[in-house]
Amino acid sequence: MSNSSIKTHKIGVIMNGVTGRMGTNQHLIRSIAAIREQGGVKLSDNEVIFPDPILVGRNEAKLEKLAAETKVERYTTDLDSALADPNNSLYFDAQLTQLRAPAIAKAIAAGKDIYCEKPTGVTTEEAYELYNMAKKAGIKHGVVQDKLFLPGLQKLRWLIDSGFFGEILSVRGEFGYWVYTGEDQIPVQRPSWNYRKEDGGGIIVDMLCHWRYVLDNLFGDVKAVSCLGATHVKERIDEDGKRYKCTADDSAYATFELAGGVIAHFNSSWTVRVRRDDLLTLQVDGSRGSAVAGLRDCVIQSYNATPRPIWNPDIDSPIDFFDGWTKVPTNQVFDNGFKAQWELFLKHLVRPEKFPFPYDLREGAKGVQLAELGIKSWEKRAWVEVPALAK
Ligand SMILES: NC(=O)c1ccc[n+]([C@@H]2O[C@H](COP(=O)([O-])OP(=O)(O)OC[C@H]3O[C@@H](n4cnc5c(N)ncnc54)[C@H](O)[C@@H]3O)[C@@H](O)[C@H]2O)c1
Repeated sequence: MSNSSIKTHKIGVIMNGVTGRMGTNQHLIRSIAAIREQGGVKLSDNEVIFPDPILVGRNEAKLEKLAAETKVERYTTDLDSALADPNNSLYFDAQLTQLRAPAIAKAIAAGKDIYCEKPTGVTTEEAYELYNMAKKAGIKHGVVQDKLFLPGLQKLRWLIDSGFFGEILSVRGEFGYWVYTGEDQIPVQRPSWNYRKEDGGGIIVDMLCHWRYVLDNLFGDVKAVSCLGATHVKERIDEDGKRYKCTADDSAYATFELAGGVIAHFNSSWTVRVRRDDLLTLQVDGSRGSAVAGLRDCVIQSYNATPRPIWNPDIDSPIDFFDGWTKVPTNQVFDNGFKAQWELFLKHLVRPEKFPFPYDLREGAKGVQLAELGIKSWEKRAWVEVPALAK
């Protein structure tokens, strides 16, 4: 078939906050530029979707450099002009969290479809209002839920769907790593706003959004939360080499009750040193077997391969507990999770009936809700119920 007989759906995408860590690496380089490089997203043998991004930010020089590096023709520091152009039908946002909701509200008012990073707002009310606005405007909307698209979690989903676990009893999530403070000339790995509450920082706000969709989608709706936050490291050094006081939580110890009876406990920390398979591990224990999933890999131990330990601290353990686990084979090619979700959303924009996209602004608001209630639980030192958000 010649190229001329292929129908191209060109989608103008306003990419705001694209000079940031997530915007540049995951959304522009790994997703949109990679999709353009591969010739677009194939809808069928004779139809393709081709994103046409316009990079938006505050610093023209940075935008120009990024555009050149990623072979993007269009960039601007003027969001309003990008919104006014009817060829740009999709607004994407990866700005600082507290800038997100106002910018999305503006884009919805301009009639754009929406795709954005989490958290979708600073409060549940703000995030849920975006869902209401989008529903009223009749636009299509989606929120990044990248962890679901990780190969390790896809393998876990396959184990769940195939009944490997029997009855699932509990889920233990360990997330985190040591984020340097900026002392001793070692560069920090995360932006300083993450450690300032007044700038939208804090690990509860950041990570409970993720745990909400992971739990809801794989193990059962979150019904109640008990969360304890902590600011273990009190001072850090910012991007300008200035010392600042950490006002946001850098660790969270949270327990969740799920519909159906599964208990989940997640530790999230930027002040922990890693001695586990990966930066995120999810251990799932079931009556017939267990699994530990990392970002890419997943290992399993079935009931019949389960050792029978006997408590005896006086002798070296006769069992090596890392033996007896089997790696789930990688039977399919997994693309970058952010890109996989972008591709699904782009297909949803063009063929919604064929490609449903369940990760919408209401789902985004549910993430914000769990983070908000996690903080409430910490403040009250009590369990907090998680009410369902109206559809
Ligand atoms: N899905 C995920 O796994 C994941 C991971 C990390 C961060 N995030 C989310 O992505 C968003 C961006 O995080 P990041 O780590 O890329 O942050 P970052 O600091 O690297 O980027 C922030 C972006 O916002 C822009 N911005 C606009 N106005 C600004 C202002 N007044 N001050 C500072 N920056 C301003 C910056 O130019 C930059 O493009 C956050 O909402 C964060 O919660 C998601």
